[in-house]
Amino acid sequence: MNLLKCFKTFKQLVLIDFLAVDRKHILLLKLVPRTKVFWFFMDNPQKINGDFKGKDIVSLDQFSKKDIYILFSNTSKMKNLVQKKGGSTLLKGKIMCAIFYEPSSRTFGSFITSMQRLGGGFIPLQGMGNSSVAKGETLEDTMQTFSSYSDVIVIRHPERGTAKIAANATEIPVINAGDGIGEHPTQALLDLYTIQEEFGKLDNLTGVFAGDMLHGRTVKSLLRGLSLFKNNTCYLLSPKELKLSREDFNDFQRRGIKIIEIKNYSDIPKNAHFWYWTRIQKERFENFKDYEKVKNIFILTKRLLDTYGNSKMILMHPLPRVNEIEKEIDSDTRAVYLKRQMKNGMYLRMALLALVLGKI
Ligand code: NCD
Repeated sequence: MNLLKCFKTFKQLVLIDFLAVDRKHILLLKLVPRTKVFWFFMDNPQKINGDFKGKDIVSLDQFSKKDIYILFSNTSKMKNLVQKKGGSTLLKGKIMCAIFYEPSSRTFGSFITSMQRLGGGFIPLQGMGNSSVAKGETLEDTMQTFSSYSDVIVIRHPERGTAKIAANATEIPVINAGDGIGEHPTQALLDLYTIQEEFGKLDNLTGVFAGDMLHGRTVKSLLRGLSLFKNNTCYLLSPKELKLSREDFNDFQRRGIKIIEIKNYSDIPKNAHFWYWTRIQKERFENFKDYEKVKNIFILTKRLLDTYGNSKMILMHPLPRVNEIEKEIDSDTRAVYLKRQMKNGMYLRMALLALVLGKI
């Protein structure tokens, strides 16, 4: 047991000890005052702290700048590997279980191919409505089951916070592939990698985010990531109904990133490094009429891009696109969503899997 703090309060001895119960849980033993003993779990996901092995990847909050750079240097190695040899046998004998309770094509496919390119195996579970969940199985039981078959679990779920619950239900690493309107850390990391690759830095950047800020989980993870670096300014263009929740807005402001909410294209700054266009998240609306009202609100046309954009910027999108970027823009050299951004996702997930599995 590690005695971390010992101090006097109101003439009583107060002790705070941290006891590592297992790899994931830290039990906090608190004596306040000496006669009273409180035990409780701190279940915040563990910081990476330079060591990915065995860790869950639930939130961008677990990352420091250094962790991001460790991941990026391995991502570049994976890129090189794929381009030269297609892959390797680094993860031979390892199995990844991908459990998706929500639709996905890119994230699901990219995790599967990442595992395959490194010689590992996988259990693909999509459409969990067809599984034991339909018989009433709890998430905890599902996690227990698949952790007996595999070495890492990737989970997507419609409820915010589920990835954390899933991670606490098993000993093996759990990677969040999107938890409702919460977070989508691997998407944000690949977005950051794409920005870093283009501009050679992650600080002193100006970004424009457009679309659904309220429900978009990729936006929330990316803002968390950008707030680790100095002097970043992000303009958020959305209808008033789809602005960030005030809680998220205040949280981001406190982190030091400058957030400016805008309503019109004409408020877009001319000097943006990247635009991050997003889909209005139809499935998150309680009322279809509310979705109908906003669904066509920010459709990016070539004319708009040429009027408000600049020649050095990049245009990103986490995909899938519905109608919010006109097809004609796809061939614009600034548009990176269909090419670089997606490929980077595979390289980054290869690196992340190898890191959490302790193979690099
Ligand atoms: C995103 C998601 O699922 O949050 N897609 C993805 O994983 N690349 C964005 C979206 O669905 O709009």
